[in-house]
Order: sequence, then C-alpha cells, then structure tokens
Amino acid sequence: MSLANLPRTIEWIGELDGFVRMIDQTKLPESLEFIACRDVACMWHAIKRLIVRGAPAIGIAAAMGAVLAVREETLSAERLLSKLDETSRYLASSRPTAVNLTWALTRMKQKARASAGEGAKAICTRLLDEAKQIRDEDEAACRAIGQNGLSLIKDGAQILTHCNAGSLATAYYGTALAPIYTAHEASRRVTVFADETRPLLQGARLTAWELQRAGVEVRVLCDGAAASLLQRGEIDLIITGADRIAANGDSANKIGTYGLAVLAKAHKVPFYVAAPSSTFDLSIPSGQSIPIEYRDEHEVRSGFGRATVPVGVPCLNPAFDVTPAQLITGIITERGIIRPVARDGIAGLLLTLTTANRTRLGR
Ligand code: MRU
Repeated sequence: MSLANLPRTIEWIGELDGFVRMIDQTKLPESLEFIACRDVACMWHAIKRLIVRGAPAIGIAAAMGAVLAVREETLSAERLLSKLDETSRYLASSRPTAVNLTWALTRMKQKARASAGEGAKAICTRLLDEAKQIRDEDEAACRAIGQNGLSLIKDGAQILTHCNAGSLATAYYGTALAPIYTAHEASRRVTVFADETRPLLQGARLTAWELQRAGVEVRVLCDGAAASLLQRGEIDLIITGADRIAANGDSANKIGTYGLAVLAKAHKVPFYVAAPSSTFDLSIPSGQSIPIEYRDEHEVRSGFGRATVPVGVPCLNPAFDVTPAQLITGIITERGIIRPVARDGIAGLLLTLTTANRTRLGR
C-alpha cells in the first residue's frame, strides 16, 4: 500500500467540451465510484450532497462548475460575464462555511474580466485553464504543507485528527494529513487516531479509507473517546483542517473540532490546524462572523438509513464550529507555520505573497 493507490479527488477530463470526474465520496468506504458532471446543476448537487467535500476540493469543484455553466455561451463576452456572475451566486449558495468556494469563484470572475476583450470562446478556454490551475496549485500547496509540517512528526508519533482533511478533501495529498503522508514517505512510523466524526462519519469512512490505502496505520474511535486517550497520554499531537480562518486566526472546521482544541489545552497537547492560504478570509476580523452551515436534521436522526432518534424529537445539525485562535498552537500553511497564531503573523504571511501571486490568487 502506498500513496500511489490514492486516486485524484477531482479532475477535468478532455478539452472544453469535456466533463468533471470526481470520486463519489458518499459511496466510500464500500465502493470507489466516480461521478461525471457535465452541467452546473450536477455540480451544485454534488457539493450540496457532499459527493465532493472538504474546503479546497469544493473550491476546485466550484471553479470547474463555473466552466460547465458558461462554456455554451457563444453569444457575446458581455452575456458570458453576466452568466458567470449569476452562476457564481448559484454555486456559492451550495455551502456557506468554506471560503475556498467563494475564493475560487472570485478568481474565476477576475480571470474572465481580464480576458473580456478576447471574445466568449477565448474567455471559456482561459476559464478552463484557470480552473485546472486552481487544482494544480492546491496539490502543490498540500505538498508544501506536508514539508512544512514534517518537523512536528517524530518517529513513532500518535496523532489525532477529526473529520477528513486528507487527499479526498483537496486536489490530492490533503492538509491535516499532508505532514503525516510526508512523514510516512520519509519512513517515520506514525499512528493516526481518526475521530469517526458524527453525523456523517467523514473520519471513519474517508480518513480511515485513504490512510489505509496509503499504508499509514490508522485506528478509528468514537468522537467521545478522544478525551480519555488524551487523558491517558496516548496522543502526542492533534492536527485538523479548516474551512475558513479569520484575520485573527479563529478557525472554522467540522463540528467537534472546538471541543478537541479545549481538550488539547487541558492536557497540554499541541493542537495544529493545517490549511492553504486559500482558506484564510482576511475580510472577517474574527470567527464570530464566520457563517456556520446548518444541515438537514435527518443526517442526525437517521443518517445511514436507520432511525436513531425517536420520531418527533427535534435534532440540531450545525456542520462546523469555530476554534478560537488562542487554543491553536500553530497553523501549518504552504508558506510556513504561523506560530503563535495572531493577526500580525497571519497578515505578514499572506502579504508576503508577491503582487503577481496576489492577482493570480484573486486577492
Ligand atoms: O462537511 P465537510 O466534509 O466538507 O467538512 C470538511 C472539513 O471540515 C474539513 O476538515 C475541512 O474542509 C478541511 S479540508 C482540507
């Protein structure tokens, strides 16, 4: 088993008249199946239903979805630009928390506007190139996060993670799992403890699936078991991903992450967040302004087909929570580790992007 066994999460197949091929993550771990999206409605539903999920992956999906929406638009460049605006609003309505989605759409709109004089067909070609570029940059960022986080992973480390911030959640290689994969490739022994992550079990279904496929030792535990492992000193380090990081470092991630950060503090275990720069939202001063997605209560009540809550009892299903910056030991990015986590360090790191890069990244 090795990383070569991990298929790409999302790819554009063919030329402009091609399609988007994605792993159907709702089918894992029972079967590895792919879905082909040929129109934007398919992509909206794929994002909404978590066929494709994870902040960087849904950014890529939105960018490719935008191409699907406008590629038939041969009338005029002006009509194409207005259709792209409309499509961006539609795709952005699929999931509110991960900023990568709107970040990617903003970047696509900027690219289209910069090419407006070239005619609709040429704009479409440029948009496809941009969507592929977003995918490729994400893979490169994940590999850099792996390198930057490697020093945190000692031989024999026991690492806890929550949800899935692995290859499946990105173009390839992951964010929270990237330093683990890099350590594994460097022949360091690592054991990963994967919270199952109620209600949709991204940890049990997805993190365990990809780590097993990559040959990394993994054990799944019920979310409630994490506290006792930490209490017994069995966890050296916690690494999670993020869906949106505010200017002060407050980080939104899968529901349950905040609780883990509190536990980590209580047990003096380092708590790291791993995320690419596309996950930072400097327009938001703190985590209080991060929009939290509430999903349908049936996911809690009977998520996998069997009723687990009495009929008539209401359920709550917030999909994300916010971990305050002061509970985060460091944020591992493609540009280095931000430690301590504070406004200045974040701004310093993001503003070291060159002007050229900033334009390219849509900032
Ligand atoms: O609801 P999901 O499965 O999209 O939630 C995903 C997470 O919370 C991930 O940890 C986050 O997107 C980071 S992915 C690199």
